[in-house]
Amino acid sequence: MQSVGEQTYTQAVREGKYDLYVGNLFGKYDNVRTYWEDQLTRIALRPFLGELVERRCQNDRGVRIVDLGCGAGQGYEILTKIDRRDLDLGLQHKRVLPKEKIDLYLGLDISAAMVEKGQTLFESEPHVEFAQADLREGLGRLKTEQEPFDIYFSSYGSLSHLMRQDLVKLLEDICQHSRNDSTIVLDFLGRYSIEWPDFWGARSESEKVREYTMSYLYPPATREKIESEKFPLRFWAGTEVKELAKELTAATGVGVEVLKLMDRSLLVGRHTDTQEYNPQLKAIRRSINSLHEDYLRTNLEELLIDPTIVPDHPVIAPQLRQLITSWNVVVEYCQQRLWKRCALTELEGWDSFTKSLQFALMTVDRVIADVGWMWYGDPRANIIEPQLGYALRTLEYEMQQGWGCGHGLVAILRIKK
Ligand SMILES: C[S@@+](CC[C@H](N)C(=O)[O-])C[C@H]1O[C@@H](n2cnc3c(N)ncnc32)[C@H](O)[C@@H]1O
Repeated sequence: MQSVGEQTYTQAVREGKYDLYVGNLFGKYDNVRTYWEDQLTRIALRPFLGELVERRCQNDRGVRIVDLGCGAGQGYEILTKIDRRDLDLGLQHKRVLPKEKIDLYLGLDISAAMVEKGQTLFESEPHVEFAQADLREGLGRLKTEQEPFDIYFSSYGSLSHLMRQDLVKLLEDICQHSRNDSTIVLDFLGRYSIEWPDFWGARSESEKVREYTMSYLYPPATREKIESEKFPLRFWAGTEVKELAKELTAATGVGVEVLKLMDRSLLVGRHTDTQEYNPQLKAIRRSINSLHEDYLRTNLEELLIDPTIVPDHPVIAPQLRQLITSWNVVVEYCQQRLWKRCALTELEGWDSFTKSLQFALMTVDRVIADVGWMWYGDPRANIIEPQLGYALRTLEYEMQQGWGCGHGLVAILRIKK
C-alpha cells in the first residue's frame, strides 16, 4: 500500500513536534503557522461559523464536529479560538465557538501516534474524542454509528493526502451523512504556489499528484543530514474545487455550495525555506518567523522579494507579481520610516495603490509614529516588527483570490438538502 507519510508523522510526534505550544523560529508550530496560517484560517471561517453556531444554539443543541486527518487535534484549537472581533481589549476572549457549545469533537487520523497524542493532550476535555481511521475508505463505520455532524473539518493540507477518487468517495459519504446547512472545510496544498512552479503545468490526474517531503520540520543543519520520507500528495487549484462541488451534486443529488476559497501563505509557504522545489526562492518564512520573535531583530532587507522569479503564466503570474510588488513597497517603506518621518501621500504611486496596500502602509506608519516615545522592552523587535508581520499577512490575505496560489488552499462549502 502507498505511503501516507506514516514514518514522518510518527517521528514528528515522538520528537514532540505535535505537542501544543505556539510560536517558534522553525518546525511544525513556527510563528508563521501560529500567527499567520492558523489565524487566517480562523478569519476566513469566522462569518460562516458564527452563523452556524447561532443556528445550532437556536435549536438548543451543541455543535458536532469531525476533524478529518486531525493530527493531534489542531482543528480543535483552530475552531475554539476564533475571536468574535479583532479589536477587543477585554480580559476574556469572546469566541465564536466556545468549548461549552461543542457536543462532540471527533478527531480521525490514520496515524496511531497522532491519535494517542491527541488523547493525551485533550484528556481533560470530555467532549473531545479521537479514533484511528483511514479516510481512503470514506466515512466508514461513522455513517451508521454517528449522527450527522455540523462541521466536517480538515486543516493544514490533510486532504491532499487523498487521491482524487478517494476524496470524491469521502465527500459523497459526507453528502449523504450530513444535514442541511452542515459545513465542510477542505484544506489542500495549492497547485500554483511559488514554492513549486514545476507543478503549475500539471494537466492529467497523475501530474497533479507529486512526491512531497516535510523536510521543513527540521532546521537546515539537521535537514542536510537526514533522508526525508517522500509520499504522494494531490495538489489543487480553486477552479477544480468548484468543479468538484458540481460533480458531487450531480452524483448525490445533494446541493454543495462553495462559500469561500482562500489561498494561504502565497509568499511564505513552508518550502520557501527549504527551496526543495524552487531553488530561486529566498528563505522568506525564516525572516517572517523572526519578525514575530520577541527580542530578535530582523534584517528587513531579507524580506524583499525579486518579482522576476515568478515564471510566466497568463493568470497566476500577474497576481503573484502584483502581490510581490506591494509587499516590497511595505517593506521598503518600513525600512525608511525607521530612520526618518516620510509622508505617505508623497510616496511614488500612492494614488494608484490598492486600498489593501494603503492600509498596510498606514499601519506601519502609525505603529512607528506611536512607538516613538516608548523605550521599554526593545520596541523595534517587540512592537514594530510583529506589526509589520501582521501588515504583510493582511496584505496577502486581502490580495489572494483562492486560485490555489498559496502553499495551502482552504475551501468552505455548505450542504443544501
Ligand atoms: C499535515 S498533517 C495535518 C494535521 C493537522 N490537521 C494539522 O492541522 O496540523 C496531515 C495529517 O493527515 C493524516 N493522514 C494522512 N493520510 C490519511 C488517511 N488516509 N486517513 C486519515 N488520516 C490521514 C496524517 O497522519 C496527518 O496527521
